[in-house]
Formats: sequence, structure tokens, C-alpha cells
Amino acid sequence: MTEQIVILDFGSQYTQVIARRIRECNVFSVILPYHTPAADIARLNPRGLILSGGPASVYLRHAPKPDRRIFELGVPILGICFGMQLLAHFQDGRVEPGRKREYGKSALTVRDPACPLFWRLPKTLQVWNSHGDKLTRLPRGFKSVATTANSEFAAIENRAQKCFGLQFHPEVVHTPRGRAILANFVHRVCGCGKSWTMRNYIDQAVAAIREQVGSQRVILGLSGGVDSSVAAALLHRAIGPQLTCIFVNNGLLRAREAEMVRQVFGRHFHIKLQYADAAGTFLARLKGVTDPERKRKIIGRTFIEVFEAATRHAGHAKFLAQGTLYPDVIESIPIAGNPAALIKSHHNVGGLPKRMQFQLVEPLKCLFKDEVRLLGEALGLPREIVWRQPFPGPGLAVRILGEVTRARCEILRNADAIVVEEMKAGGWYYKIWQSFAVLLPVRSVGVMGDERTYDYTIAIRAVESQDGMTADWVKLPYDLLEKLASRIINEVKGVNRCVFDITSKPPGTIEWE
Ligand code: XMP
Repeated sequence: MTEQIVILDFGSQYTQVIARRIRECNVFSVILPYHTPAADIARLNPRGLILSGGPASVYLRHAPKPDRRIFELGVPILGICFGMQLLAHFQDGRVEPGRKREYGKSALTVRDPACPLFWRLPKTLQVWNSHGDKLTRLPRGFKSVATTANSEFAAIENRAQKCFGLQFHPEVVHTPRGRAILANFVHRVCGCGKSWTMRNYIDQAVAAIREQVGSQRVILGLSGGVDSSVAAALLHRAIGPQLTCIFVNNGLLRAREAEMVRQVFGRHFHIKLQYADAAGTFLARLKGVTDPERKRKIIGRTFIEVFEAATRHAGHAKFLAQGTLYPDVIESIPIAGNPAALIKSHHNVGGLPKRMQFQLVEPLKCLFKDEVRLLGEALGLPREIVWRQPFPGPGLAVRILGEVTRARCEILRNADAIVVEEMKAGGWYYKIWQSFAVLLPVRSVGVMGDERTYDYTIAIRAVESQDGMTADWVKLPYDLLEKLASRIINEVKGVNRCVFDITSKPPGTIEWE
């Protein structure tokens, strides 16, 4: 069984970040709801347990509490922020409301360098805090090992019991040596090796897929995005010709997208690829439609229809593969005060209808996005696919404001190709979250040569983001913007003006519709 660390989720917005940091140490980690019975945790045979932060106060009656028997499992425990306050709650310490909320950076002084969490770390470290409550009496058997100006109990330990608490957040980037602290916990305290790598994962996943699928056939909807592409390559490695991929051209794709997918998957990987060209159907149904939500619904419904027909055409298959990722399957616990509980992923359409009686194969469902990219590299997919920027399911339709027509798609496709090309040439494309063109249906007056023009406007959007939930506009250099505008206006017929979008999210969204 793979060595693993169990993280109990008390509703922190950083719980997934903790899990990712642990995996970056090459140790597998899973997130479980805070109330998971200790016996269920024991069955996983974890090497260590991390109690996440959370928005609640431990002294309140309805605060989320773990099964108290987790403290009897004999497994090393690390409590982070609220997690540390839980240690106090269960072991006779005291937590009280602080006089003021401590939020932001502070300097941590390590008082006991023999504490394994601070192995080979400097005596003074920058750490990041976000808490209102404060530990005012140590839990039984604990001592303080590090302090900040605001807290004499910034890090505590009961070394004999392998139990540790941190008032600050080691998982966030604002604690620059936080990853080393977590690495010390998993390697030095829990004794984990470094077995979690994507090379090892390929072997495990291939075996699991073969076991699940046997000699049956599998169908996969390939969009050309990172997740479905990596899923395709992995399934192909496992079951070769038993896999058929269906690629739907909805007429709303970027330039050369369909050719690229055929080239990479059909000709290079020799994956059985069924190409469904439904551009005409999609565009006909979008005729005259201007409302963004209606566009999305029409595209979603039409996709299912086209995909269903394509699966019938592909012949009987028992399994449908999907590129579901770990964040989609983590059971999220709505805890009052946790903003993460309110932000739902609103996009990924509810999947295929139940009447399509497939069994699901989801070979990426325990992976985070960054791991999927590494897996893609390990499987030999080209950088252009593995590191590509996100592209919305409804495609160019949500980047053409107002009615979507074939002619407008063509204009946007050409403008977008220039944005992608120049962003790559300037070294920006792979550094940022997204960069693309948007077609505005307003016409404005211009002059080209001796002629007056009356054409569309292209907006250029470039944003930096960690997860698409919030985003900052990217301060692209003026000479790059100038080049983009000049190329788009000169090379794309129908456009005579370019603007640059300087809206962050919130209050804007990344896409314009
Ligand atoms: P917004 O525009 O909501 O976008 O700030 C956040 C992220 O989601 C992508 N996006 C979509 N993805 N179907 C998708 O699969 C959609 O309808 C959709 N709308 C937005 C967007 O590109 C950004 O990365």
C-alpha cells in the first residue's frame, strides 16, 4: 500500500494546498472530512495525520471536532492553526479570542532547534498567520518550540508522542520555508520515503485500469485540453486498441485545434480517434442567440447529442473514461464562515445523461492539476498540450459577445492565433494562467490607407491566477501590446481597433461571458 498522510479538513480554504505541498514532497496525501471515524482512518494505515485550519472557534459548542480516538491511533499528528487549537481543546490546553486578529506576515524565532520540524532551518523564519483565537495555555505534555512577537506558542510539540502544532500556515507561499517544515514532518517525524512520483503512478494506474476494464472497450471524449489528453495517453498506455477517443468539432475551436489533436493522438500515438464534425449543427442552433447562459445551454445539449451519436457509431463500449480530477471528488464540508464553501465550480457541466449506461473509468481522480501535467510529461505528451492554458468548454462562443456566426468565429480565431503566437514568442504564454482575444460586436470608425473603415473591436485579455477563482490582469509590456494590436489590425480582416482589458477578478470574470 502506498505510504500516505491523511489530512482532516476542518473547512480551511487551504486544505487542498496542504495536500499539494505534501505530494510535492513525494508523499501521497488524502483529504477526509473532519468527522471521519478514527477506525476508518486507521484502516488506511496512514503514516501521519494533519489537522487543517478552519474558520471556527474550538471553544464554541458547534465547532467541528474530530473523533477523539484519533489521538489514540499512535500516528504522528500535526495541527495547523485551528488544528493546533484542537490539540489544546482535547488535551487540557486553553484557547481564547485574541485581542486582535493576527493576519499577515510575522517573524518566527525557533527556540528549540532540536524540534524535528525545524531541522536544518534557520533560527528566524518568515511565517504567515491568519487567526483570531489564541492559545493561552499549552496542552498537557507540550512545550513551546518557537515564538512570534504576538505569540509565545507559535509552534508547540510533544516530541515523545510525535504530536506538533503550528499557529501559522506552513502551506502557503507567504511562509517561504513552509514546504521544508512540512517535508520535515512527513520524512523526519512520520518516516515517509519519496515513493509518490508520476513515474510510479503510471505503473499503479495502468494496473488498476487493466484490472477494472479487462477486455472491454472504453470510450473517451477528447477535447484537446490537458485533462482529457492526459487521460487518453494513460488509457492508451494501459489498454491500447480497446480505447476509442471521440473528438467533437463544435465549430467554436481555436485555430488548427482539430488538426493538432488528430496529429498528436491519431498519427503520433496511434490512438483510435473518431472525429465528429458538427460545426454546422452547433452554429445553426446558435443563430440569433445572444444571451450568454442560453448559448452555454445550447452548446451543452448539442454536445451531448453529438457525442451520444458518435458513441453509437463507435460500437458497443462498456466503459466511459473521464478526466475527473481530485478537487472534483473531495467531499467539501460547508462550514459556516468558510468562503470556499460558497464558491462552487459553476462551469463543469453536469456530465452525460444517466441513460447512457456506461461504467466510469476515472484514472486521474486522485490527482491535482499540477500532477496531471507532470503525468502528461512522463507519458510523452508534447509541451504544447501538457502546459496549455485553460480553454472554456463552450469555446469561442463565450468570447464572441452577442450572436455567434461563422464569420465572427473566423475573425476571432485569427485574432486569437496571433495572441497565442506572440505570447509564446515573448515568453509569456506558459508563465500566466490565460491570454486570449475577445470579439466585441461594436463597430467603430477607423482609417486604413486612404480608406475609412467601420469594423469590429478585439479586446486582449491576459490574466494571472492560481485556480481561476480570482485573477489579476497581467501588466504586459507596451511593445508586446503594440505588436499584438498592429498584427491583429493589419492581418485580421474585419478588425480595426484593439483594446486591452485591465479588469481583475473580482469584480470582472476572466471570460467576458
Ligand atoms: P470566469 O469567466 O468564470 O472563468 O472567471 C474562470 C475559469 O473558468 C473557465 N470557464 C469555463 N470553463 N466551461 C468551462 O469549461 C465554461 O462555460 C467556462 N466559463 C469559464 C475560464 O476560461 C477560466 O479559466
